Amino acid sequence: MADRRDTFVVLGGTGSIGSALVRQLSDAGDNVVVGARDSRKAALMADEVDCDVHSIEANSPSSIRSCVKAAAEKYGSITGVVNCIGSVLLKPAHLTTDAEWHNTITTNLTSSFSLIQAAAKSLRQTGGSIVLVSSAAARIGLPNHEAIAAAKAGIIGLTLSAAATYSKHGIQVNAVAPGLVKSEMTRKLWETEEAAAMSASMHALGRLGEPDDVARVISWLLSPANTWMTGQTIGVDGGLGSVLTRMKM
Ligand SMILES: NC(=O)c1ccc[n+]([C@@H]2O[C@H](COP(=O)([O-])OP(=O)(O)OC[C@H]3O[C@@H](n4cnc5c(N)ncnc54)[C@H](OP(=O)(O)O)[C@@H]3O)[C@@H](O)[C@H]2O)c1
Repeated sequence: MADRRDTFVVLGGTGSIGSALVRQLSDAGDNVVVGARDSRKAALMADEVDCDVHSIEANSPSSIRSCVKAAAEKYGSITGVVNCIGSVLLKPAHLTTDAEWHNTITTNLTSSFSLIQAAAKSLRQTGGSIVLVSSAAARIGLPNHEAIAAAKAGIIGLTLSAAATYSKHGIQVNAVAPGLVKSEMTRKLWETEEAAAMSASMHALGRLGEPDDVARVISWLLSPANTWMTGQTIGVDGGLGSVLTRMKM
């Protein structure tokens, strides 16, 4: 074993939630291996934070396998893996092209399946944690979210089944389901004051999420404090997925 610290693989570690998580894990002294598609962003990340970077693509299971394998080989074993790769598509089904549908499923669901395939091989020896990212949109009907809601609902099912399959190997599989978080992919929904106020009003806690709000819960799911949870999808959503604040009586 090259190092006694915990080792985590974060796919999409150059994104808003992913990079917040990478910073939290690195600040805690863990080894962090980032899987990223954009080499320029990955290089900036490695300059800023003590982490390794590997090139991956959501539609390439072999690139995801190579990233996880490289982490396990370098550090002797891995403690946990997280998929922060994702996209958003706000369109009704009748206006969604076949290419947009396939891209939404591949980016969000296939990348999560590929990570489980890759990580289970390594974690079966040691136990550990897998965390996926679903969405509040998978649990409450929101208009114009058909493709992304389907992809993110698939992640909830994937989490449940993988948790059942791998529990005997000491692997915990959980997911988070964020509400609207201020990130690159959602910029249009919060960059003007009017849009931000409209979006915030859908969340019982009255504000949009910050990447750190979600990253903190993922960090906890990966930590030794998470002793007895598996198969769960946790809403980190200011209430969007489950709490109404106004009702006509
Ligand atoms: N923000 C929200 O309101 C919200 C709500 C619910 C769920 N989520 C989920 O949270 C996760 C993180 O998203 P975020 O909010 O942090 O958005 P973000 O900043 O846009 O991050 C998305 C990440 O996915 C990566 N990515 C996208 N397509 C890829 C592909 N084809 N191959 C490899 N990587 C790819 C991006 O890479 P680059 O860095 O190269 O762009 C980026 O690292 C996603 O799963 C998203 O669906 C977000």
